[in-house]
Amino acid sequence: MNLIIAANWKMHKTRAETADFCRALLGDLDYFEGVEVLICPPFTALSAAADHIGGSALKLGAQNMHWEQEGAFTGEIAGPMLMELGVEYVIIGHSERRHIMGEDNRQIRLKLEAALENGLKPILCVGETEAQREEGSTTGVIKDQLIAALEGLPPEKTGSLVVAYEPVWAIGTGKAARPEDADEACSLIRDVIGEILGSGPAEKVPIQYGGSVKEANIGSFVKLASIQGALVGGASLEADSFSALIRAARKAVQS
Ligand code: PGA
Repeated sequence: MNLIIAANWKMHKTRAETADFCRALLGDLDYFEGVEVLICPPFTALSAAADHIGGSALKLGAQNMHWEQEGAFTGEIAGPMLMELGVEYVIIGHSERRHIMGEDNRQIRLKLEAALENGLKPILCVGETEAQREEGSTTGVIKDQLIAALEGLPPEKTGSLVVAYEPVWAIGTGKAARPEDADEACSLIRDVIGEILGSGPAEKVPIQYGGSVKEANIGSFVKLASIQGALVGGASLEADSFSALIRAARKAVQS
């Protein structure tokens, strides 16, 4: 399975900054052997990114979507609008949306279904807060999030699903999870997906780790058998740190 490394830019970068990033990254690394690389700019910069990555191996993702196809939903963006721009992936249920914007498991389920219906590849984010980890409910939280998102989906429709394990306390803090903790959580995620969708489909789901991933630590995550990529925030904002991280990931899996 190829690694999938996704840049989640959150609310960063204008169209001009996006164009500069794409030029710099593709000037440095125009082909990513063994690694699927994607950038998830804000909605306003998606078309600028699409213009600059056309014809390259770099893929495009969105950070969110609404579950309806169109309608009276002020400020929202629908699947067909993303497809028109050449978007291939969409992040669903990022912890900043769950915990800052108040998205709940029901909304995340609707978004996941809409992504699959529209032919977008969902990157479903799950993970516990620091308080939940301290009180020992990490396993229960992750299970609940996966069950709410996936239970009852026809397994044959989930072939493009990606899951990202993102412990909330590790996001943007510089304090990444210990590889052994990420390994335990990602193994649990695959087991739970197996219980929900069956072990055959579960084997095919790439599971990413996210939370303070950088060049110096990505190797310790992607060399684990339980992890097939990373969702990267801060370290994806500069083309040189992002390309260094991609190289480090490739080296770790090849060695
Ligand atoms: P971070 O963000 O790499 O800055 O911790 C990761 C994410 O939010 O996906």
